[in-house]
Amino acid sequence: SAAEIGVIGLGTMGAMLALNIADNGFAVAVHNRTAARIPEFMEKAGDLARRITGHAELEDFVKGLASPRNIILMVPAGDAVDAQIEQLRPLLDVDDMVIDAGNANFHDSERRAKASEEAGVPFLGIGVSGGAEGARFGPSIMGGGTPEAWDRVAHILKAISAKYEGQPCATYMGTGGAGHFVKTVHNGIEYADMQLIAEAYGVMRDGMGMDAAACGAVFDRWNKGLLQSYLIEISGKVSAATDPETGNPMLDMILDRAGQKGTGRWTVIESQMLGAPVPVIEAAVVARNMSAQRDLRLAGAKAFGPTGGAMADGTLSLDDLEQALIAGKVLCYAQGFELLIKARAEYDWDLPMAEIAKVWREGCIIRSAMLNDMASALTDAPEQNLALAPYFADVLRKNVAGLRKVAVVAMGAGQPVPALAAALNYFDTLTSARTTANMLQAQRDYFGAHSFERTDKDGSHHGPWLDQHLQG
Ligand code: 6PG
Repeated sequence: SAAEIGVIGLGTMGAMLALNIADNGFAVAVHNRTAARIPEFMEKAGDLARRITGHAELEDFVKGLASPRNIILMVPAGDAVDAQIEQLRPLLDVDDMVIDAGNANFHDSERRAKASEEAGVPFLGIGVSGGAEGARFGPSIMGGGTPEAWDRVAHILKAISAKYEGQPCATYMGTGGAGHFVKTVHNGIEYADMQLIAEAYGVMRDGMGMDAAACGAVFDRWNKGLLQSYLIEISGKVSAATDPETGNPMLDMILDRAGQKGTGRWTVIESQMLGAPVPVIEAAVVARNMSAQRDLRLAGAKAFGPTGGAMADGTLSLDDLEQALIAGKVLCYAQGFELLIKARAEYDWDLPMAEIAKVWREGCIIRSAMLNDMASALTDAPEQNLALAPYFADVLRKNVAGLRKVAVVAMGAGQPVPALAAALNYFDTLTSARTTANMLQAQRDYFGAHSFERTDKDGSHHGPWLDQHLQG
């Protein structure tokens, strides 16, 4: 019988998603450009293969689907998606739907949604988070497109998604690229969360002289408190692991050069375009970039002598460090949600703020206990900066002292903590009743007659310098 849904692309994510769909009782058709992967996949599917049909030819794959067809693309983001749509669309009927489930740049999803609308064909762009395990056993899904397009497959997406206390983590975010925008911000936060944790690890390793296993034990303990999250959990696990080849801690054998596929950078670019600062995410992206410039760092260490020396005993406690991570995390999420609030206005999306926090509570990489409290805060005040929400303001009051101490001590010892420092600077700026931008305004007026507002009266004004220096 005809399959209810199709999956094109049997890379890790596509294969896991197809198995998940079959596991939830849906008949699924699969296709892969390299046909050899199909029988391999069918074999791995085991018992689930009874609900899966593999097609080496795209035409057969299309014919194997019940009408109107719903086809998930899980191919590398970018040109491959356009190429696949171009190849597929002529084989489809007008009401057949393409669903891009990759990590698309939301501008591409906007463009594809627009082109589909003009052609009168349905299109859905869904952000899928949770890595391979999530795809197989329940990812977090962020949908973008027309409400009708979403409604058509919502029952399948909700069935395969992660559940938080029984509630599916699959939510409609808005039209066009809204789903992929939310997924991009998710990834930006993911970068920042990871960097904050890496910096805490650095303070323990280089500042406190702790070995990987000892760091792991600390992460395990933190995972029982406010920081409880998937990323803290896996940080504990990777810290405890031993390299089978050398018997050394696995972490110590991994080169300090991080990769990235671009979603963190996109978050920063969009934040700059919208004037919604995300400095912790930015610091995280910069840190990855600098990690990748290893030769330059080695030259720097040679020229100036290595930094990052040990901190004197007792200058920092592990409690200080936990506080720093708690405060850093709250501030980083405050920035991420602030970006979503700005995007909501700019792109006319009805982004469901509390629902975004809810869809991230399970399945995705940034899942954490704190997201449930964020959902509550955003339910009460969807447009409020999270740092000012009563619950989180209280968390910050209790934990910013630790963040300040860690940032100051680490920087004093020459240890880079860019994300923690960015979080602290964000906090100190956010709580500044008087910044130094009066100086910027004076400079702008001096060199370009840009004018300024005054503290004592309305209107736009110039300083006494203009006439003098422009007359020469
Ligand atoms: C997720 C992840 C996932 C992927 C990232 C990693 O939500 O499941 O974010 O989408 O692992 O693309 O990104 P980098 O390769 O850029 O670290």
